[in-house]
Amino acid sequence: MTDLERRQDRAPVPSGWDYAPAPEARDIVTLQERYGVFIGGELVDPKSGEHFATIDPSTEEPLAEVAQAGPKDVDLAVKAARDAYENGWSGLSPAERAKYLFRIARILQERSREFAVLESLNGGKPIKESRDVDLPLSAAHFFYYAGWADKLEYAFPNRTPRPIGVAGQIIPWNFPLLMLAWKVAPALAAGNTVVLKPAETTPLTALLFADVLRQAELPPGVVNILTGDGRTGAEIVKHEDVDKIAFTGSTEVGKAIQRELAGTGKKLTLELGGKAANIIFDDAALDQAVEGIVNGIYFNQGHVCCAGSRLLVQESIYEPVIDKLKERLKTLRLGDPLDKNTDVGAINSKQQLEKIQELVASGEEEGAEIYQPPCRLPERGYWFVPTVFTNVAQSYRVAQEEIFGPVLSVLTFRTPDEAVEKANNTPYGLSAGVWTEKGSRILSIAQQLKAGVIWANTYNRFDPSSPFGGYKESGFGREGGLHGLEPYLELDEPRAGK
Ligand code: NAI
Ligand code: MG
Repeated sequence: MTDLERRQDRAPVPSGWDYAPAPEARDIVTLQERYGVFIGGELVDPKSGEHFATIDPSTEEPLAEVAQAGPKDVDLAVKAARDAYENGWSGLSPAERAKYLFRIARILQERSREFAVLESLNGGKPIKESRDVDLPLSAAHFFYYAGWADKLEYAFPNRTPRPIGVAGQIIPWNFPLLMLAWKVAPALAAGNTVVLKPAETTPLTALLFADVLRQAELPPGVVNILTGDGRTGAEIVKHEDVDKIAFTGSTEVGKAIQRELAGTGKKLTLELGGKAANIIFDDAALDQAVEGIVNGIYFNQGHVCCAGSRLLVQESIYEPVIDKLKERLKTLRLGDPLDKNTDVGAINSKQQLEKIQELVASGEEEGAEIYQPPCRLPERGYWFVPTVFTNVAQSYRVAQEEIFGPVLSVLTFRTPDEAVEKANNTPYGLSAGVWTEKGSRILSIAQQLKAGVIWANTYNRFDPSSPFGGYKESGFGREGGLHGLEPYLELDEPRAGK
């Protein structure tokens, strides 16, 4: 025994490895008691006269009152957007438009801690994620599209790109600021103006973004922000003077919007749900794959449209994968979203929690086997323990329906063909993951999967330059990349021979 080993032998053994609390300070955020709607560059009282409380889902404590914008507010916002479009913004030189986008990006970076804390407070996601994912990606989207603003002629050669007009944009609660960035950045880069509605449970970062717009001195009316629930969204969709709708949310509402717009000539992009397969072949690096599985379904409490919610494991490695996964789940820390060590935060809303509970109950009733690691849930707020279902048949609801929570359904396969068949056995087609050491298999499987985004030996990776969007009931149109500009432009047909 060496001297060193002897000394280690005598070192005191800690009784546990609990983490001390590491809360992010929340006083960087200053909230108003009550917010108006952001129209023509000002936060004004809503004509509707209605407000509702927005809460912290981890404590159920009210944070502020926000406006429930009504038809008059929508009309005023659309008028402000039209006016800004016609009297300045669309005619501004593209390089000048780019300057505003660069400014917005820089301000988001400068104020990123404030935004990250507010995002976690209002939405329940771990600060680790809002700080390291939502905020950097939101700023990156503005930087990226700022770069395109004066290069549209090169992006679409010989197609005379022109802006469309006023874009109505309706976004969900799972990535509030990031979805705002995905929508606002390309719209402005292309020369459009915007009426944006954040989700009813997460309006606060959009309202803080209004402050960023003022700081960037964006001309009034170029971006208007209306808070409210689905009724406000529906008013934006049906407003006559809106030229394009961009929606991210449920397939149900997406379908309703498509019906409403049929025959109106308004442009539409829909980014809806998913039920992605994460496929693990027997030659995959298992420890990395387990990390990818965990990231794929427990990131952001599983409130992710591209979540890897159906795990497809090759039969020969089923046991080691499930054993490793269960071990790994025991180390996930659930709790205070503002604690820097938290891995799994609060469920976004009571409504979403009830949906998860109902689907999980159906899984147990249909005969799936449930595993949940030992886990103490806080007394107040909305929480759900990270869950794995094994013994899942393809027909079970937990294998078919989007749960949008921290719940994984495990299926097995024997051959690559069977993996593809099972992966594609869904009405959705947003994303998928493939884990194998064999490059040729990655390419062949990726070609057969009906999904808009496919990750190989990784999961949930995003980059503003990479287009994102779905097939089938996951919607249509792409966000991100060059493709993400197209829905915001009128383009001539490509001319032959050029
Ligand atoms: P939702 O589709 O009702 O809400 C998304 C956005 O649409 C919100 O801003 C909402 O106010 C707005 N909205 C609601 N009804 C509308 C209407 N008739 N016209 C225009 N806008 C309308 O989604 P919800 O109810 O929050 O979540 C239900 C399920 O949808 C989730 O459990 C999840 O499965 C899925 N979902 C998928 C998302 C994605 O990223 N693809 C995001 C949010 C939810
Ligand atoms: Mg809804």
